[in-house]
Amino acid sequence: MNTFPALWQSLLPIGRDPATGGYRRFCWSPAELDCRAWFETTAAERNLRPVTDRNGNLWAWWEPPEPQRARPAAIAVGSHLDSVPDGGAFDGPLGVVSAFAAVDELRATGFVPARPIAVAAFAEEEGGRFGLPCLGSRLITGAIDPDQARSLRDPDGISLADAIAAAGADPSTLGPDEEALARIGCFVELHVEQGRGLTVPVGVASSILAHGRWRFTFTGEGNHAGATLMSDRRDPMVPAASLVLAARKAAVGDARATVGRIVPVPGGTNVIASEVNVWLDARAGDDATTKSVVAEIQAMARQAAAEEGCGIRVTQESYGDTVVFDPVLRDDLSTVLGGVPALPTGAGHDAGILASRVPTAMLFVRNPTGVSHAPQEYAEPDDCEAGVAALAATLEHLAS
Ligand code: GLV
Ligand code: MN
Ligand code: MN
Repeated sequence: MNTFPALWQSLLPIGRDPATGGYRRFCWSPAELDCRAWFETTAAERNLRPVTDRNGNLWAWWEPPEPQRARPAAIAVGSHLDSVPDGGAFDGPLGVVSAFAAVDELRATGFVPARPIAVAAFAEEEGGRFGLPCLGSRLITGAIDPDQARSLRDPDGISLADAIAAAGADPSTLGPDEEALARIGCFVELHVEQGRGLTVPVGVASSILAHGRWRFTFTGEGNHAGATLMSDRRDPMVPAASLVLAARKAAVGDARATVGRIVPVPGGTNVIASEVNVWLDARAGDDATTKSVVAEIQAMARQAAAEEGCGIRVTQESYGDTVVFDPVLRDDLSTVLGGVPALPTGAGHDAGILASRVPTAMLFVRNPTGVSHAPQEYAEPDDCEAGVAALAATLEHLAS
């Protein structure tokens, strides 16, 4: 029974910007609340028990028919439903839709799991609204202080606590959830591959680059674009521009450094900004390289700020060290799936956060162009179906 196409179509229109074709499913926004409603309806249609945990992560439970005293820990499969600004359709949702479709496929064969199976969708994986990626999985594992999480603010100044409350949920419950974690014996996240590293329909993940986000705030003197002599300026946009170039220069070898967001204050064509905020995303194969790339960029930015007579403040907003996925589980799944290749990824995932607490694996579905975090992100329908079949085989193997 192939339920993937209809399920995929049912989620596809939610949160899509008609002008760009990209998705704007920001956590706790109306579009993302619609995704949450989609998840609950999809679970209910399958008699899966929907649960929203204390951190806003969604779960849909397929539990063995007889209540068991010592119920074995579950196999959780899923990903996330939120998006980056103008994200593609696949990053996150492919894993959630495939998880529901894999459950359907197994049930159609009469399979009865020997342990519970849970479909999961983690909250704010992209950090697209509150700036901190993998927020739901960091909260559940205790990787972030709940007070710090509650006080994160979106670009409009709305705090996470207020956004959760406005959605009718309770922000006071955020925090480590040992009980929820103890019920998960293993987590498998299926995801669209985000480069061109996979030349067959399905693969397994080997590792994730160390990566983090840094906010640079340059301060100068707001002034008039026409009346202020060039020699009289302290324009924070100048060191901000140097930072962009420094990032390009410092990221060599396997390192990557990106400035994808710059916010000048107040932001007017004929106004010299008084402040410019620049967000740097930096990644590399190991912790030391990532940190030395950031240190080099920071040194260049400090020098550029000093030359312009500007102030500079640097804040690390998130960080995650290199993740190497459980090699036993990785090789086991590769074998079960017929010897599919293992490949590293430069993208961050909730699986990378959960890997510190539970055996975790990832399945990748081929991305023919390698484009991701853009409306053009794509995977062939046949490859998506191969992903569902691989996930069903994985569940059958792990939950037998
Ligand atoms: C999320 O996709 C990230 O890698 O930033
Ligand atoms: Mn992403
Ligand atoms: Mn993702």
